[in-house]
Amino acid sequence: MSEAKNPWWHTATIYQVYPRSFSDSNGDGIGDLPGIIHRLDYLADLGVSAIWLSPIFKSPMDDNGYDISDYREVAPEFGTLADFDHLVAEAKARGIGIILDLVVNHSSDEHPWFLDACTGRDSRYRDFYIWRDAAPGGGVPNDIPSIFGGSAWSFHESTGQYYFHQFTRRQPDLNWENPELRAQVYEMMNWWLDRGIAGFRMDVIDLIGKEPDRGITAEGPYLHRYLQEMHDKTYGGRDVLTVGEAWSATPSSALLYSGRDRNELSMVFQFEHVTQAWDPEHGKWRPRDFDLVALKKVLGKWQLALADDGWNSLFWGNHDLPRAVSKYGDISGYHTESAKMLATVLHLLKGTPYVYQGEEIGMTNVPFTTIEQYKDVETLNMHRLHLEAGLSPDDFIAGANANGRDNARTPMQWTDAEHAGFTTGIPWIEVNPNFRHINVDASLSDSSSILNHYRALIQLRKQHPVIVYGRYQSYLDQDPQFFIYTRTLGDQRLLVIANFSAKEGTLELPEELHLAGQCISYNYRPFERLGATLQLKPYEAFAVLGAKR
Ligand code: GLC
Ligand code: CA
Repeated sequence: MSEAKNPWWHTATIYQVYPRSFSDSNGDGIGDLPGIIHRLDYLADLGVSAIWLSPIFKSPMDDNGYDISDYREVAPEFGTLADFDHLVAEAKARGIGIILDLVVNHSSDEHPWFLDACTGRDSRYRDFYIWRDAAPGGGVPNDIPSIFGGSAWSFHESTGQYYFHQFTRRQPDLNWENPELRAQVYEMMNWWLDRGIAGFRMDVIDLIGKEPDRGITAEGPYLHRYLQEMHDKTYGGRDVLTVGEAWSATPSSALLYSGRDRNELSMVFQFEHVTQAWDPEHGKWRPRDFDLVALKKVLGKWQLALADDGWNSLFWGNHDLPRAVSKYGDISGYHTESAKMLATVLHLLKGTPYVYQGEEIGMTNVPFTTIEQYKDVETLNMHRLHLEAGLSPDDFIAGANANGRDNARTPMQWTDAEHAGFTTGIPWIEVNPNFRHINVDASLSDSSSILNHYRALIQLRKQHPVIVYGRYQSYLDQDPQFFIYTRTLGDQRLLVIANFSAKEGTLELPEELHLAGQCISYNYRPFERLGATLQLKPYEAFAVLGAKR
């Protein structure tokens, strides 16, 4: 494989910014685009190649911007179009691309298309949305639930029909069967691409091919046709990264999205490693105990399935998920060690790693104690529904503490000053009280910080093709404490060993892994020569690069 032909995002690490919570430049308590520009040197120093910005568009902010009312305007609380162009230019000057969040499964109910569609059944935009009559005996057309609770159908009084919304009632689903709607979306995408962006992250893209009448929401029959059309009419032929959020993706459907000859996406965000830890009935609100064997099985399955075609995304967290170190590590006894271990394991897999803001300094879940502290529309809806169904308020808060989306949305912790240096005003959501010791300033001045570990891993990917292209193989799959895998390219072999536990442990290494080489990453001490038996410390992780035996 000649490397010149490989896309830039093979060696890239992407950083996700949640604009509302990243950096506030004007003291209104809300992060904004000038605030991001102000932090670009920090991100350049970390070594990331692109920033995925959660939505920055005009929006009533019912779902913090995932409800867009104007696809070509920047939300005034985030800045202006001029600020955006400035951000693109300043980022580009530092070798960083800007990836926008494309939210086109649905719009806001304040989008002019929807407002017009509500004026009457003969509106020119009526068919941009999904309208149905009541069921024969009255009531909702069918029993499809909204992902945020309740029915996916809401009644519109004045026109006498129901409209379809897979999220809140303020996020009406767009009707992708309408060619005029699709043309408008493509035109809008080209308008942003022409401004010099580096790609799109596509919100719940697996839902656009829906067929509500048949009860089909995810991966509908026309999904891939739409994505191929989108590719051909917009980014096909441009050097950009496209990543589709696809909760329903399986290893085989991932190949349909990201396969070499498919002309669809660069990769998808697949969530099997996330959902395998959820309760089959109550989902994320009733998390299961951590199970390393199950996690390894899922990650390994995806590594093997996309080994020769397609491409993996690699991530522990995002703005919808709990903080990685709280979920998979140990924030009381081994905060630094476990955060570094998690980074090592993820960043040395095959795929493109994504770092969610604050992960690189080991930010943790937030210990809110009352529902008033939560801001997320999903958490607030679910609170109401779960309490109505008989759950105790304390049990609900416990579930939200573990898996609620606001864990990821508290302000970025820059300094140990008031409000963590995020704002000079009052932040829109409370800062995590641990900002006094978990913050960027402290991390920058400590050579053994989590931040410096991330920086080193991001560089390693740029230096070693074995990290980018090496073949994955796992070992001791049934072991509940250790995660062990190799990556092999030509006669080079990278061996990664991690202890996923607060307990020390003795590891009996298979003979073919008795490797000698250079230890390119570690969180306690460098191992260079590996014999039959290893004693590992709590959350110890390291990687040795040597010759294949
Ligand atoms: C995606 C986003 C999430 C949003 C939802 C609806 O899952 O990541 O934040 O609420 O789509 O747009
Ligand atoms: Ca602001």
